[in-house]
Amino acid sequence: MPESGRSWWRDAAIYQLYVRSFADGNGDGIGDLTGARARLPYLAELGVDAIWFNPWYPSPMYDGGYDIADYRAIDPVFGTLADADAFIAEAHALGIRIIIDVVPNHGSIAHPWFHAALAGGPGSAERSRFWFRPGRGPGGDLPPNNWQSMFGGPAWTRVTEADGTLGEWYLHLFAPEQPDFDWDCPAVRAEFEDVLRFWFSRGIDGIRIDSAALLCKDPALPDAVAGQAPGPAHPYLDRDEVHEIYRSWRLIADSVSGDCGADRVLIGEIWLPDAARLIRYVSRDEMHTVFNFPYLSCPWDAWALRRVIDQTLALGGPAGAPATWVLSNHDVDRIVSRLGRADTAFDLERRRYFHDFPVDLELGTVRARAAALLTMALPGSVYIYQGEELGLWEVQDIPDELRQDPMFHRTGGADPGRDGCRVPLPWSGTEPPFGFSPADATREPWLPQPKEWRDLTVAAESASGGSVSGGSVSGGSVLDGSMLDGSMLGLYRTALRIRRSELAFGDAPLSWQPAPDGVLAFDRDAADGDLSDGRARVRCVANLSPAAVGLPPHATVLLASGPLTGGMLPPDTTVWLRIGS
Ligand code: GLC
Ligand code: CA
Repeated sequence: MPESGRSWWRDAAIYQLYVRSFADGNGDGIGDLTGARARLPYLAELGVDAIWFNPWYPSPMYDGGYDIADYRAIDPVFGTLADADAFIAEAHALGIRIIIDVVPNHGSIAHPWFHAALAGGPGSAERSRFWFRPGRGPGGDLPPNNWQSMFGGPAWTRVTEADGTLGEWYLHLFAPEQPDFDWDCPAVRAEFEDVLRFWFSRGIDGIRIDSAALLCKDPALPDAVAGQAPGPAHPYLDRDEVHEIYRSWRLIADSVSGDCGADRVLIGEIWLPDAARLIRYVSRDEMHTVFNFPYLSCPWDAWALRRVIDQTLALGGPAGAPATWVLSNHDVDRIVSRLGRADTAFDLERRRYFHDFPVDLELGTVRARAAALLTMALPGSVYIYQGEELGLWEVQDIPDELRQDPMFHRTGGADPGRDGCRVPLPWSGTEPPFGFSPADATREPWLPQPKEWRDLTVAAESASGGSVSGGSVSGGSVLDGSMLDGSMLGLYRTALRIRRSELAFGDAPLSWQPAPDGVLAFDRDAADGDLSDGRARVRCVANLSPAAVGLPPHATVLLASGPLTGGMLPPDTTVWLRIGS
């Protein structure tokens, strides 16, 4: 913790930058660091505290860069290490921290260790860094056990040995191009500790740990049992041994210092249904925070949301870990589409069905605005997935032949996969590539952009209301201090500015207030605030009911996600009120 007392990541607004789709600097249709660097002023104006980069390492891109061939370099498509250094330095100069993705569960078939393992042959030390095993059945023709890949099909692939014969099988919980490391092997542990030091010493402020609960496997590799709960008895999900790894990482994170002081953060990507198991990852000697997937998956329903919010806040309790709030990311359907469907939950297992439901984009957008204000009013840190601030929707009609996600291909198209939330951002202009690539680009964007996004470009949304300058809101209609019908971008900019400046949005807990059915109302107070000064208290009211409700007594409307007609809060609208004088 810094000497000033409060760690930056406790209440940071963190922008998830999916580099392939953010901004293309050299015109090859793929986002890169030069493009991203040129847009740093945009992120500073948006008002984010940190950027989380999805993997930027050399990769054959079988899984969007989550198949890493070299953990200490940058993919040439994205740039060079010097570009990364320059980005980090420029971001820091703007007061923006940098978080990178580290993928410890698996590497890539293009990683030199995997080449060495293939060449080394059965029983070699090189193979012991992965999970190579003989097959079962006559001739070893069957995989070593029944584990299934998260992307569909068996989690084992058979190799051809150097002499041309069919040989051992190797484990991959994801695509076959992503061989799992064996974390019982000391060389694997030492390697990742060194990778962490490498990036921390380059000035990185945090690490997002991919698939963090999957690293340790039962060495006996028993068959998986259908429906088995994650935990110590599960052969690979959330085994107790995994915690020792993160304790050693915490020591490293705490021991390095850099541009912004020694206040590094470890953030776990952990999908676990049981909060009591999840809580074990956040402790004073392990990770600082974990992603909040129950919130991201929760339907647009007041009671369900309240339950998830309470459970989330209780989760951090013992270790004092702050909550994290996430509406979407590069693995799930975009929030506008999710909230525009009859079923507003998200579930990885059911994604294949969601895409068959009609989407009411207008309703989804109204709700996404309300969800954004609800989310940004909650205590803790908040993640914004690039494009969420523009109100982009899930692109569900990408032609099959252009789809890239292994999830689509390995399920034979049954699961549409994640390309629809990864379409390159629209920046300006009236037709694709909408300023994503420079005017003299040689290639089209790597996924096609809908022509309707001409209304959702950064330029269009900045012009159509709600750009913030000098602390006031310009454009859109402004009444009683609230922005009523500005763009999504205007709403995000204003909300982030208020979230940063209002004392009440600090560290202190929320207190629920009585509210009609279907309405969530809570107060935030400045931790040491003098409540006789109204500025110390903010009330957030989100109306998820089908009827308009009256506003509670308040001094000022700070911000509303939609028009407040006749002093009422309409359905699917959230308002921030200053309570008191
Ligand atoms: C995580 C990533 C996802 C990736 C998977 C395998 O879930 O968020 O994009 O496919 O890990 O690395
Ligand atoms: Ca490029």
